[in-house]
Amino acid sequence: MLKKIPVAELALGMYIHKICRRWTNDPFWIGLVEVMLDDIEVLRRIQQSGTQEVWIETGKSRVLAPGPSAASTAPSASDDTTPTSLEKEVLRARVICGRARDAVMSMFTEARMGRAMDVGNVQLLVEEISNSILRHPHALISLSRLKTSDEYTYMHSVAVCALMVALAKRMGMPDDQVREAGVAGLMHDVGKMMIAPAVLNKPGRLTRDEFEIMKAHPELGVKILMETQPVAASVIDVCLHHHEKVDGSGYPHGLKGDQISIFARMGAVCDVYDAITSDRPYKKGWGVAHSIREMASWKGHFDDVVFQSFVKTVGIYPIGTLVRLESGRLGVVVEQGQASLLKPKVKVFMSARTGKTFAAQVIDLTCPSDPDGIVRIEKPTDWGLEEVDTLWAGSPA
Ligand SMILES: [Fe+2]
Ligand SMILES: [Fe+2]
Repeated sequence: MLKKIPVAELALGMYIHKICRRWTNDPFWIGLVEVMLDDIEVLRRIQQSGTQEVWIETGKSRVLAPGPSAASTAPSASDDTTPTSLEKEVLRARVICGRARDAVMSMFTEARMGRAMDVGNVQLLVEEISNSILRHPHALISLSRLKTSDEYTYMHSVAVCALMVALAKRMGMPDDQVREAGVAGLMHDVGKMMIAPAVLNKPGRLTRDEFEIMKAHPELGVKILMETQPVAASVIDVCLHHHEKVDGSGYPHGLKGDQISIFARMGAVCDVYDAITSDRPYKKGWGVAHSIREMASWKGHFDDVVFQSFVKTVGIYPIGTLVRLESGRLGVVVEQGQASLLKPKVKVFMSARTGKTFAAQVIDLTCPSDPDGIVRIEKPTDWGLEEVDTLWAGSPA
């Protein structure tokens, strides 16, 4: 079983599954995956590196770590759904995202090792994510877009889960179907655990042969889910069909239009949105508003009705979009407008004319006393802005 422990508890004789730190090219850290820790110098270097936590495989370790395992620790779901501000919910959503990512990593790793997944906590996680979305509709879905390369597959699952929950709510689905949509989002890519790491984590475009290997992940995922109890039929369906396209050009079955279930059509939109807006080792993620426009232009890919609901879910100018205003100010979208998706709240902080920053201030584009409007979307890199998301999400802890 996998267990996350503080580095202070790491000892010789423990089998390291993975070190919790940002991805690096350093061979020292790359080599510290799935290895027995039996060198005192390696242990010292890990302890002195400032790294906080490490995943160990208890079944392969010669010594035991104290305390309960992360996989078996049930998170307690908060049933608080009182609406709150983005700022406040981001703090809670960050904790929920971290917990969900760790749970997905633990479940998916069990699957990779050929063991039955323990999905006991999944319902509770989806409930937590759902409650966060009720407290603030955009905090968690915006936060789960921000992910490091080494946590991509796991955080992508959390992000698709959150988007599915928000989309299902927007489409007016009953609570039990909202929950199923969330679980389906969380599990849709479990089959990727059976793809060779050299293909799955390749830091570049896949060759035709590699893509053919990757295309097996929906069917491989179904095999895993069939051995996992209890899993709803809709969860298996999304896993199998989230890469189908309404014009029949998708895979694995080339289904068309209504042949694809509503859940799978929702999964297709949420999956692509998170994939193209996320940074990868070989490619910077597209801007959120740009991604919505691109997806709208892909005829035959998505179901129109589902896609329109999705746009209403994330906004035409999703949180984190850098925009230029008529007044010549540059700002980042921090809230969707209640009355119009075209008039969000924007945190302005820079003059587009002079390129100089000023004290950030949130303005409401629906406010008649300070009339202003969005002229266009800007690319953060064109303005030397690398960390534009910190303007609404703060700095990661
Ligand atoms: Fe997939
Ligand atoms: Fe995916």
